[in-house]
Amino acid sequence: MSFKILKKEELVPTIYRMDIRAPRIARKAQPGQFVMLRINEKGERVPLTIADFDREKGTITIVFQAIGKTTMHLSSLDENDDIQDFIGPLGNPAHIPKDETVILVGGGVGVAPVFPQARTFAEAGNKVISIIGARSANLLIWEKRMREVSDELYITTDDGTKGHHGFVTDIVKNILESGTKVDRVVAIGPPVMMRAVAGVTRPFNVKTIVSLNSIMVDGTGMCGACRVLVGNETKFACVDGPEFDGHFVDFTLLMNRLAMYQPEEKIAVEKYKCERQGCLC
Ligand code: FAD
Ligand code: FES
Ligand code: MG
Repeated sequence: MSFKILKKEELVPTIYRMDIRAPRIARKAQPGQFVMLRINEKGERVPLTIADFDREKGTITIVFQAIGKTTMHLSSLDENDDIQDFIGPLGNPAHIPKDETVILVGGGVGVAPVFPQARTFAEAGNKVISIIGARSANLLIWEKRMREVSDELYITTDDGTKGHHGFVTDIVKNILESGTKVDRVVAIGPPVMMRAVAGVTRPFNVKTIVSLNSIMVDGTGMCGACRVLVGNETKFACVDGPEFDGHFVDFTLLMNRLAMYQPEEKIAVEKYKCERQGCLC
């Protein structure tokens, strides 16, 4: 069995959206869950969050940044190409609050996994305040989609080319300091951003959920690769998460573990680029 790419779109430079035909996963998918995919029999397994799903069409949408060998290879595939393995939905669905005021924060490619949560939270009657950020205006994704499901939408860019000149945390802090009653914050993006958001919300004692992107191999709780420390307890992000209370996550350990294989990943990218250019070295 293989999984066909029905739609491919480059959203902004290096970030791609793909709709994959996977009816069985689409039937069960919930916001917060992820898939593990393997492009071909020689490929490695990589986790990607379910950015959207269409139960009628039987499709799963993934949005990914081409940063290394596998995601670069994936971005080189076209519509009607097949992916060999596409497994899911994995992980626990996000908790859907009721009648709460929720701040949803998405950074970079993390805006995509925030979207289905924002939509579901809005449908469940919550007040949705969204904050989406990117390094620069030309790297900002899904602004229109996020606006459609948010009561309020704030944009930040590191270089000031759109919205607030600064970080998503500046807006979180402003909202909390203004005295707006906020019941929950959900932050998805680079670990450094999630750590910063948790740092801002801690003194205000606002529950802060983060989605941990630790290295995963099987995605089903068997290999231990994805272990993280939450409140001094070891958890497996794939089966116990991926969402955890950000105030208790050991982000330093998470970031150190994410960097563990960087020398090998660098070699894999160089080899991949070389092969694509037909080099025989
Ligand atoms: P590599 O050069 O191999 O790795 C680049 C960096 O990615 C590494 O330094 C490491 O920090 C991380 N990484 C490498 N292998 C893995 C792995 N097997 N599992 C997790 N991280 C890895 N990225 C997106 O762009 N969009 C998403 O929606 C998304 N959702 C994710 C959901 C979960 C639950 C997790 C755990 C990760 C998610 N990621 C997502 C990150 C994505 O899996 C990595 O960017 C991808 O595996 C990198 O693979 P690569 O071979 O292209 O790059
Ligand atoms: Fe293997 Fe989580 S990825 S235990
Ligand atoms: Mg890799």
